[in-house]
Amino acid sequence: MAEIIGGVFTSHVPAIGNAIAKGVETDPYWKPFFDGYTPVREWLSKMQPDVAVVFYNDHGLNFFLDAMPTFAVGAAPVYDNADEGWGLPVSKSFEGAPELSWHVIEMLIANEFDITSCQKMLVDHSMVIPFALCWPDAETWPVKVVPIAINTVQHPLPYPKRCLGLGRAVGKALEAWQGNERIVVFGTGGLSHQLDGERAGFINKDYDAFCMDNLGPRPEALIEHDALDIIELAGSQGVEILNWIAARGALGGSVREITRNYHIPISNTAAATMVLETAPRKQTLAA
Ligand code: DHB
Ligand code: FE
Repeated sequence: MAEIIGGVFTSHVPAIGNAIAKGVETDPYWKPFFDGYTPVREWLSKMQPDVAVVFYNDHGLNFFLDAMPTFAVGAAPVYDNADEGWGLPVSKSFEGAPELSWHVIEMLIANEFDITSCQKMLVDHSMVIPFALCWPDAETWPVKVVPIAINTVQHPLPYPKRCLGLGRAVGKALEAWQGNERIVVFGTGGLSHQLDGERAGFINKDYDAFCMDNLGPRPEALIEHDALDIIELAGSQGVEILNWIAARGALGGSVREITRNYHIPISNTAAATMVLETAPRKQTLAA
């Protein structure tokens, strides 16, 4: 039976990719951020996942404002990255897990999540940066991927409650999958940030702490605010926390915090990293 081993939650600021490309990870500006990844890498190396289910948001590389699915699930054999205009090097491609993707899509539709399925899809820095952080020395990415894009860009945005529900439905689909894969879930983006307008550079440490403190033990606390409340609290791009909320939903019941890091700022963003581990299935069954 497939097993969900836990979740990696991380910011995806493009400047991180440029720092990696320039090899400046140990410069004083970057060190406190990159140091937060040592325990994440150790955990991944110990847990050896085969597949990553990635909740992220596209920033205009594959979907644009003219046609924006609220929820889109990739079902491609391979996902390419492309030049996004951040000055980032184009990333190596990601191998898909199309059979697992179709299983997830079928189960989501059966559970009344009428998502968009994408058999061809480019993936942007929202997937590339987290992978580059997790597996800095990989020649090819060590996991296959099921990308799940959430609209955090074009209003109306989905309700946080719906995102938690989507994640929970994805988690149930993964648990029902008959393969033997070890599955890690990613939630990328956030935490508080606003890139433009009068509040450019806005950061809210208190709200970020509230999110990190509750994400593991009480994810319902994060859905007490609707998406517009979150924009008020976290900035217009801080609403990327919707990806974290969905990813947390996919982990199911109780989780154990393995590590967290919070560093202000990276670019205009409060950068945060967390790992939450699920209880092993045997333990869950015995309980
Ligand atoms: C930044 C943050 C993001 O989440 C993003 O997608 C792009 C840029 C930033 O802080 O610069
Ligand atoms: Fe972003």
